[in-house]
Amino acid sequence: MSQFESVDDVIETLTEQGYIADTRLATTVFLTTRLDKPLLIEGPAGVGKTELAKALAAATGRRLLRLQCYEGQDETKALYEWDYGKQLLYTQILREKIGQVVADAPDLESAVDRIGAQESVFFSERFLAARPLLESIRSPEPVVLLIDEVDRADEALEAVLLETLAEWQVSVPEVGTFTTKTPPYVVLTSNNTRDLSAALKRRCLHLFLDYPTAERELEIVRSKNTGLPDALAQQLVGIVRGLRELELRKSPSISETIDWARTLAVLGVEELTATILSDTASVVVKYDKDVRKAIGALPRLVDPNATVPETNGHGHGHGHGGHDDHAHDPEPVRRARTDDEDGDEVDGRAIRAAKDTPGRFGHTYGSNPLSGDGGASPIKPPKVPAERGARSFGAGLGRKRAL
Ligand SMILES: Nc1ncnc2c1ncn2[C@@H]1O[C@H](COP(=O)(O)OP(=O)(O)O)[C@@H](O)[C@H]1O
Ligand SMILES: [Mg+2]
Repeated sequence: MSQFESVDDVIETLTEQGYIADTRLATTVFLTTRLDKPLLIEGPAGVGKTELAKALAAATGRRLLRLQCYEGQDETKALYEWDYGKQLLYTQILREKIGQVVADAPDLESAVDRIGAQESVFFSERFLAARPLLESIRSPEPVVLLIDEVDRADEALEAVLLETLAEWQVSVPEVGTFTTKTPPYVVLTSNNTRDLSAALKRRCLHLFLDYPTAERELEIVRSKNTGLPDALAQQLVGIVRGLRELELRKSPSISETIDWARTLAVLGVEELTATILSDTASVVVKYDKDVRKAIGALPRLVDPNATVPETNGHGHGHGHGGHDDHAHDPEPVRRARTDDEDGDEVDGRAIRAAKDTPGRFGHTYGSNPLSGDGGASPIKPPKVPAERGARSFGAGLGRKRAL
C-alpha cells in the first residue's frame, strides 16, 4: 500500500499492525503523510511513540530507518561517515598499484601530489558510510525515518536535523549533493526531558501523546492477547491508572500494564487481590520507593471500601512467614530483564526542571551552528559519559522492544 485514503483508513491499517490509534492520533498521522511534514510526538515513556513509527512503516510497506539520539552524539553519526576500515583495506590490497603511481616521482613532494590527485577515488560514494539521515534521503525506495528521543540530542544536532528536514538534501563535499526522490515520512519522538527549539516545533506537526483513556488502554491490552480474562484486564487497567496518580518516580506505562496482565495470566490468577498484586508489583514499578508506595496504595485501589489496618503502608499481611512490624522489603516476583531499560526511560519532569534555563536558545538558534556565520551563542561542548554511545546504539540489539 502506498498512501492512506482517509483518517479511518489510518486507524484500520494501523490496527492491522497491532497499533491502536484514536481519531486524534490518526488524523495527525494522516496529515503527516499528506503534507510531507515531520511528525513530532512528545509524551512520557511507554505511551507508544516509538511503536507508532514502527507501525506506520509496516502499514505503508516502507522500510524503517531509525536514528536513536543520545547526549553528545555528533552529526556524523546522523549523516554519514567515511568508511575508514574499507579505505584501509583497499589501500592494502592496492599497495602495488599505488606504488606504481609514485614509482618515478623525483621527490616526496611530487609523490604526495600524485597521491593527492587520486584522492577522489577513496572519497567516493563507494567508501561513504551513510547514517540514517543520509540513508533516508538517498534510499531509492521511500522510507519512514524515526528520529527517536530527539530531546536527548544536543542542540547542535537538532540544528543539523532542522536543516536536513527543511531541504531534504545532504551535501557531501567530496561527492556532491544527495536529494530525496520521495521525502520520507519522518517521526520524531521526545520524552520531554527538555524543550525542543521553537524552530523544530514550527517545522513539525505536533502531537502530545499521554497515557491513554481507560477504554483505549483496555483495547491495547486486549489486542496483545495477554491471556488475562477480560474482566480482570479491565480491573487491572483501573488499578494501573490509580498507580499513575501516585506521583511515582516512574509511572507505569502501557507496556507495564501489558507485562502485568501477562504475569497475572501466567500465574493463573482468577481474582485480583491486593496480595497477588503486591507480590507482582515489581513488574510495573521499578524503584524500591515506588514499590513501597504502590503496595501501600494497592488495597485501596483494589477495593475502595477496604479498611486497611495501617502499619507503615504495608499492613495487609500477604502471608509470607516471619512477618514482623518493621518496614521490610516486599518479595515481589522479579521480572527477568536483560538490560538496563530504565536507562532509556527517563522521567522528563525532573531533568527538565534542572535544565530549563531562560535564554537557552540564542538568537542564532535554528541556523547552522557549524556554518560559522558569526554565531554569537556558542553551543556548549557536549558532556559524554563514556558508556553512553555504546548503550544507546548497542543496547538495541538484544532488546525485545527495539527494532
Ligand atoms: N496504541 C498502542 N497500540 C498498541 N500497543 C501500544 C500502543 N501504545 C503503546 N503500546 C505498547 O507499549 C509499548 C511501549 O511503547 P513505546 O512505543 O516503546 O513507548 P515510547 O512512547 O516510550 O516510545 C509498545 O511496545 C507496545 O506494546
Ligand atoms: Mg520510545
